[in-house]
Amino acid sequence: MTRRISTIAALIATAFAFVALPAFAQAPVAGVDAGAAMPADYWRLPLGPQGAPPPEWSDVERSLAPKDCGQCHADRFEEWQTSLHAKALSPGLVGQLVTFDGEQASACLECHAPLAEQRQDFESARAANEGHVPARVGLAASGIGCPACHLRAHRRFGPPQRGTGTVGASADAAPHGGILRVPWFEKSEFCAACHQFSQEQAINGKPLQNTYAEWRASPQAGQGIQCQGCHMPDRRHLWRGIHDREMVASGLTARFSADSRGARFQLTNSGIGHAFPTYVTPKAVMNAVALDARGQPRTDTAVTAVIQRRVVYENDAWIERSDTRLLPGETVVLEILWGDAQRVRMWLEIHPDDFYDHDVYDDLLRDLPQGSHAARLIAEAKTHAGAGHFRLFETEIKRP
Ligand code: HEC
Ligand code: HEC
Ligand code: HEC
Ligand code: HEC
Ligand code: HEC
Repeated sequence: MTRRISTIAALIATAFAFVALPAFAQAPVAGVDAGAAMPADYWRLPLGPQGAPPPEWSDVERSLAPKDCGQCHADRFEEWQTSLHAKALSPGLVGQLVTFDGEQASACLECHAPLAEQRQDFESARAANEGHVPARVGLAASGIGCPACHLRAHRRFGPPQRGTGTVGASADAAPHGGILRVPWFEKSEFCAACHQFSQEQAINGKPLQNTYAEWRASPQAGQGIQCQGCHMPDRRHLWRGIHDREMVASGLTARFSADSRGARFQLTNSGIGHAFPTYVTPKAVMNAVALDARGQPRTDTAVTAVIQRRVVYENDAWIERSDTRLLPGETVVLEILWGDAQRVRMWLEIHPDDFYDHDVYDDLLRDLPQGSHAARLIAEAKTHAGAGHFRLFETEIKRP
């Protein structure tokens, strides 16, 4: 692990030159004023190749594989491994990619496996008709790995130093030429490159992914709470979201009440810095049902309220059917009348991948040749999407 000081100095010098670029203005988020001091090319997608690492670096320093970063950053690696970023080269994605041409596939990989080296590995495997074999796609299998966020031309970028808040090049040029600490790692703009589509792609005024814009308009943004504040507490690399029961519960407040007329389930988006849910893919359903004398649900009494942005693709265009999502601070109330019942049950049902399960994957399974690799991967994705639902806030209320 030894190297010549001169190379390190040169590296740090070029790293600073990079940050001092005149382009030091706005994030490359089309249609959105990022308003942050991040160089435009940090997240200009597709990412360019890293190029040759300094010749004296050890194999582990040169490596773009997250497990190699994990040799020295074990905690971050273990967290990242459990995240959806690590699983972004999923069966639902690959099942589509293997049917695309190179250009279409690259457009998806920009966000799902963003390194130029990942696109190359995936294309080589695909050219050999092995794009569907995880062990053949090389680096692409790591999805959104450490280098996608932390490396540009092999230079390591990271947040201000923990504890001191220091920015700039680390004094200690220990492994990988040290680190350049920059403020934008702590800002929502850092996440927007992949979590915000451009306004030109809007459907009924709102892009399919509009998370950054929703956040900008939220009270949390006004208080300075960034995406990282909720999704990376203590800098942990877990990125929990709609697929995680505790995370979803942490952002909502449920209240139950009853009077002589009926019972009410009131749900508030009390702690989510964007719409609940932010994407078109999840569906949340508030449920209430009367129970019979044995405590069994009487299905003829069931009432529901769907919380979802519903879009459909028809005649070559996206159309918004409805949008009942809860913006930050908004509340929705579901009421059930007593009738002759003495007891009701209420709960919130979360289907994180509803749109994929019932729209995208059903359509693909109809169109793809039966028995093809693509059809098998999509069937696997559909099974997974259908199995991910869960209940929150389940409660029984007695007639007063
Ligand atoms: C051989 C061990 C080693 C490997 C491999 C390694 N790192 Fe590091 N890394 C370190 C050390 C030691 C530091 C502290 C450097 C300093 O403070 O100057 C560090 C610092 C960092 C920091 C800044 C942390 C802080 O305290 O602010 C980031 C971010 C980082 N590395 C990312 C990576 C990524 C991404 C990879 C893989 C592409 C990687 N590292 C591979 C040893 C390693
Ligand atoms: C601008 C970045 C971006 C691009 C480009 C992009 N995606 Fe995604 N994709 C996301 C994000 C963010 C999510 C997670 C949120 C969601 O479910 O919508 C996601 C989720 C998915 C999922 C569901 C989760 C999974 O991995 O099974 C599939 C399938 C998917 N994308 C396929 C595609 C395909 C196919 C393309 C290319 C036509 C594509 N994506 C292009 C950002 C992107
Ligand atoms: C999606 C982007 C993304 C990916 C992928 C990612 N990181 Fe990070 N990383 C960040 C951000 C953003 C921060 C700063 C978070 C903050 O300040 O709240 C950070 C912080 C860090 C730090 C500093 C932690 C500290 O305690 O000061 C290290 C070290 C690090 N990352 C290493 C890694 C390693 C190793 C991997 C892969 C296993 C990885 N990161 C994957 C975005 C990412
Ligand atoms: C005040 C806390 C908070 C802030 C700030 C916040 N989130 Fe979330 N986010 C949550 C909670 C809680 C959930 C789980 C409930 C849900 O899915 O809406 C969530 C869910 C998500 C999801 C899951 C998909 C979905 O449809 O809901 C994504 C993706 C996401 N957030 C990205 C972001 C990004 C990107 C930012 C910054 C632009 C951000 N979040 C800011 C709390 C926050
Ligand atoms: C390089 C593109 C990229 C960047 C940068 C990125 N994400 Fe993601 N993110 C994705 C994709 C793609 C997915 C979906 C992965 C999948 O399920 O296949 C995702 C998934 C998520 C999820 C899980 C959503 C769920 O459905 O539960 C959260 C939360 C999230 N990202 C938050 C963040 C935050 C916060 C940042 C900034 C620190 C960030 N992301 C930066 C592309 C990115």
